This record gives sequence, C-alpha cells and structure tokens, in this order.
Amino acid sequence: MPTDARAEDFRRRLDHAAEATEAALDALLGPAALPGEITRPARLLEAMRYSTLGGGKRLRPFLVIESARLFGVEGASALRTACALEMIHCYSLVHDDLPAMDDDDLRRGRPTCHKAFDEATAILAGDGLLTYAFDVVADPATHDDARVRANLVLALARAAGLGGMVGGQALDLAAETAATPLTQAETLRMQAMKTGALLRFAVDAGALLGAASPAQAAAMARYGDALGAAFQIADDILDAEGDTAALGKRAGKDAERGKATLVGLLGLDAARARCDQLVNDAVAALRDTGKGDAAGVLVEAAQFVAARRN
Ligand code: IPE
Ligand code: IPE
Ligand code: MG
Ligand code: MG
Ligand code: MG
Repeated sequence: MPTDARAEDFRRRLDHAAEATEAALDALLGPAALPGEITRPARLLEAMRYSTLGGGKRLRPFLVIESARLFGVEGASALRTACALEMIHCYSLVHDDLPAMDDDDLRRGRPTCHKAFDEATAILAGDGLLTYAFDVVADPATHDDARVRANLVLALARAAGLGGMVGGQALDLAAETAATPLTQAETLRMQAMKTGALLRFAVDAGALLGAASPAQAAAMARYGDALGAAFQIADDILDAEGDTAALGKRAGKDAERGKATLVGLLGLDAARARCDQLVNDAVAALRDTGKGDAAGVLVEAAQFVAARRN
C-alpha cells in the first residue's frame, strides 16, 4: 500500500475503533444493575460515564482491536477487552489528576472528574472503573474459553497493578521530591510501568485472543514495549512544548512539578531522537511477527505515537 493510503487506512481504523469503543462503553455503563449487583448509584455512574465517554484518542482500544485482527480475531472478544483496558486507562487518568497526585483541572478539554464532581466521587469513580474492567474481561461474553479469560485477567492485573501502572505512578510521584534525580534508566523503568505496561497489555491481549505462536507473541510484546516507551516520551515532549488548547490538558506542568522525564534529563532534541529510535524499534519488532503488509496499520500506529499533536 502506498504511504498516503496507509496513513489514511490508519486514521479510518482509529476512528472506527473509537466509535465502536464509545458505543460499547456507553452500553456497559448503563443504569441497569447486572445480576449480582444491587443498584448503580446515579451520581457515581454519571462520574464514571463522564470520565470514559466523549473523549480521548482511544489508542489502547485500537491496539487491542488491531492486534487481535492481525491474528484473525474480530468482534466482541476484542471489543470487550478493549473496553476493559480503556476503563483502566480512564481510571488511571481520574486518579492521576487528583490534588494528591498531579493536581490537574483540565482533562480531554473538560474539567477533571474531581472538579466536575468532587474528590470522593472521583476516587470512587476510578475504583468503580478499575473493578468493572475485570468484570468485563471475566464475563463469558468476552470469550467462551475460561482459560483465555483467566489469562487476560492475569495479564491485565499484572499490567495495571503494583509492578505495573500503579507502581509506576508511585515511582513518578516519589521522584518529584527525591533527594537525587532519577537516572535515565530509572526514568525509563518508571515510564515503562506507569504508561508502557497498559499499552503493552493492549498488544499482548491481541496475541492472546488470536492464539499467536510464542515467537509472534514475543515480537508483539517487543512492539508494545517500544511503542509504550515512545508514547510517554512524546507525552513529555508535548507537555514541554506546551499547547493546552490542542492537548486538552494543562501543558508545561512537568517541569513545574519536578517530574522525572527524558526531556528534563536530556533536553528536547535528544528526547525526540530517542522517541524516533523507539518507533524504529517498534517497527522492527513487527517485522518479526512475519505478518508482512497486514501489520502495516500497526506500523502507522507507532509513527502516530511520535508525531501526534495531542
Ligand atoms: C495520557 O494518555 C496519559 C498517559 C499515559 C501519558 P493518552 O494521551 O492516551 O490520553 P487520552 O486517552 O487520549 O485522553
Ligand atoms: C500519566 O502520566 C500516566 C498515567 C495516568 C498512568 P502523566 O501524568 O504524564 O499523564 P498526563 O500528562 O497527566 O496525561
Ligand atoms: Mg502523572
Ligand atoms: Mg498527569
Ligand atoms: Mg504528561
């Protein structure tokens, strides 16, 4: 496929994943209680809907859907897994924005959850989304093979928890007040946890759903790791270059808060070079899946991560 057509195909698929995710999240976050639930409190549900619907690039759902498709799986299994991951991502944003963490008042171009509601509701909305994500993956509607569901639950828990996103957020916050700044290796490890782990799960889930061979799964994991690292460096560059309106979140806050970033350690040019190198690494990893042109949309995704403006 020519370069322009490939870029257009990527945009179309990203839009399609975003629309499908929005509709599925809307349905999952409806007012009716599920069997085993007692009732869904209206204000809490509203805060969960506010934090998940009507915004975001939906890159993680796209990666689940396209990685699964690369291995021949389409439909509810991938879409429900995509929604579960997006719920965890949105919960991480709600908590990340709290006064006790990054203390932000703008997210996806709107007041943050704790500003639109209140802090207790934002904490509970995050808790609700985190828990619901595992409900969605564990539900037989996601896959008829219980072993596949259990493998997804395990991988998602490992990515989201103590040794993944939550642990990374703890290291990110600790670095703000550390006596000595994090080294480059420590910064990259913290970022691999807080951001990389969920992005890596997206592509691992695709490989899991599609029963990829061990060699293909390893190649996808390398792709996910490189893409995840590039993603956070790009986020830090966007914060430093600063355009609050385009970002839909406050720019210029990382330096102010003393965040550990590659931009802070190496400067913008070197951070950009590192980001580009990681995109090349991601593309090289994709080649090892042996999927050839079928992986083209994921090549585009890696390039999008570095080139995006929000
Ligand atoms: C922002 O993620 C938080 C980070 C992990 C850097 P995204 O840039 O994917 O945020 P949305 O989902 O598009 O709002
Ligand atoms: C957030 O990193 C990572 C998670 C939410 C897990 P940032 O704190 O840099 O994300 P933004 O810039 O607020 O979106
Ligand atoms: Mg943060
Ligand atoms: Mg933040
Ligand atoms: Mg940031």
